[in-house]
Amino acid sequence: MADTDYNLLTSQVLSVLRDEPNTLANASNFVALLYNALDDINWLGIYVLRDSELVLGPFQGKTACVRIPIGDGVCGAAAATLETQRVRDVHEFPGHIVCDAASRSELVIPLLFDGRLVGVLDIDSPSVGRFSAADQAGVEQVCEAYCDLHAGQPNFI
Ligand code: SME
Repeated sequence: MADTDYNLLTSQVLSVLRDEPNTLANASNFVALLYNALDDINWLGIYVLRDSELVLGPFQGKTACVRIPIGDGVCGAAAATLETQRVRDVHEFPGHIVCDAASRSELVIPLLFDGRLVGVLDIDSPSVGRFSAADQAGVEQVCEAYCDLHAGQPNFI
């Protein structure tokens, strides 16, 4: 499996999104760029914070659950703690929410604007232990670039 070049991916995200003001188009292209840059994943998408819960946004993969309360599942844990959740085996995560039964490991990154939660990026893999610490750092870097692009637009997703 080829390692993802996260610096290249960050440049691609900036290049594709930089000149487009439409936030829905940018969120959609953001998940498409990431989905196609990562090997061995079966779902990747954004859950958006709306009225104190996470609501499904742009994604690639199978149909997914639409609403996740803060604190529930891996996504809700990332939203509640504002900390990345890197789960080696979802079967060992208490309260994990099954959307695609093929998913075995998961990486969820909080998306922040001025330190305030606006949503989360969720990535699922069919392989246990798919996400390394380097993947976590790399995806966090890409997410930070995505959030920084929308400075001045606090409701950018
Ligand atoms: N597994 C997630 C739910 C979302 S799906 O994986 C797309 C969770 O436990 O929060």
